[in-house]
Amino acid sequence: MLNIIIFGPPGAGKGTQSEYIKERYNLTYISTGQVLRAEIAAGSEIGLKVKDIIDHGGLASDEIVAEIIEKFIVNHSDSNGFLFDGFPRTVKQAEILDNLFKKYNLNLSGVLSLEVPEDILVERMLERGKTSGRADDNIDSIRHRFVEYDQKTKPVLDFYQNKNVLHPIHGVGTIEEIFDNICEVIERL
Ligand code: C5P
Ligand code: MG
Repeated sequence: MLNIIIFGPPGAGKGTQSEYIKERYNLTYISTGQVLRAEIAAGSEIGLKVKDIIDHGGLASDEIVAEIIEKFIVNHSDSNGFLFDGFPRTVKQAEILDNLFKKYNLNLSGVLSLEVPEDILVERMLERGKTSGRADDNIDSIRHRFVEYDQKTKPVLDFYQNKNVLHPIHGVGTIEEIFDNICEVIERL
């Protein structure tokens, strides 16, 4: 069973690459960012709580995200492997995921960390903002997303490095080239 986390700063291509990864390896995919945006669009209780934070590039609370993830795992207990995109975003979330894996008898196969320089990330997100309709693909929210990433998300890399499951991926190039880099690593897991 393959259980993979796709990790990287905002704009690294996690969502784009996930579309290919989940197809090739038949994985059950969840993007917490997508789920949160759907909650906002639906005007749900969670959506109302997180809308302002997310529109401005901040992070939802660990409790909210953990609840979403546990529900998803439980609802897909027949899965033959999960692909987590955009989660964990904090060390606390990584610890929560560890506990969920123990609780549901799952094993983490690897963390694929997309590495892309910041100027390219900004360029990609501004380009995406022209058509994505995402409230956070504007320069002010992008800046805040980087601050959140540096302060809260980057430490997650050390957490997984210490567990020897971290795999850096060169994240610059065409979508196909980057997907090849990813597959090379997955085949070795
Ligand atoms: O993962 P993605 O880049 O799509 O996330 C977009 C936004 O969703 C983040 O900038 C953040 O506001 C929110 N998010 C979050 N907590 C997560 C994942 C995403 O708050 N675990
Ligand atoms: Mg995404």
